[in-house]
Amino acid sequence: MNFTKYSPKTFSNSLYSMKGISKKTIEEHLKLYQGYVTKYNEIMEKLSLLTDDDYAKANQTFSTVRELKVELTFAWGGIVNHEIYFFHLGGKGDEPTGDLMKQIKKDFGSLETYKKDVKATGIAARGWVWTAWNFREGRLFNYLGDAQNTFPVWEASPILALDTYEHAYFIDYGVNRGGYIDSFFENLDWNKVAKNFEDVLSKCGCDCEGCEDHK
Ligand SMILES: [Fe+2]
Repeated sequence: MNFTKYSPKTFSNSLYSMKGISKKTIEEHLKLYQGYVTKYNEIMEKLSLLTDDDYAKANQTFSTVRELKVELTFAWGGIVNHEIYFFHLGGKGDEPTGDLMKQIKKDFGSLETYKKDVKATGIAARGWVWTAWNFREGRLFNYLGDAQNTFPVWEASPILALDTYEHAYFIDYGVNRGGYIDSFFENLDWNKVAKNFEDVLSKCGCDCEGCEDHK
């Protein structure tokens, strides 16, 4: 199997001067992101070097193939989730506009209800909340995640990712996760979320009502 080494992305300097989420938290958090990239590359390299013996010994209880393929999903989740998270932080809060606001109102009733749902989902989660576009249903929905690789669903693409692992807020908030989620919204760059939404819709090939072809 061939593979190309994945390179970590860089993010806006505004991440280091947010209200309520400290520079220290971001510095430590970015180290974790870098760690996922390193591990992803390590796992991919190991997969590229699997021998016939490794393939022959594939086993569902324990085997090299199993361990590598399971942990690959954790490492990849750690990359993608954090890239969405850091990409859309460092903004001024405000409110979404245009098609994104229209879609939020259509699917949640109001921005307040949407935020309430994100916050409650984040408090109920052990790791992540993703607002994702469900291609089949043609709607936005807030999915709950317990780890980097649980519980994404098929045919849904995230446009917003809220990290609720303790490392994202414990330095600044202790156990007050709700306070951290409020700060997350106060530092969110809705233009970046709108860009993600636009990108996702441009990939839509189904008969949903949200994409350009099916409005
Ligand atoms: Fe994280």
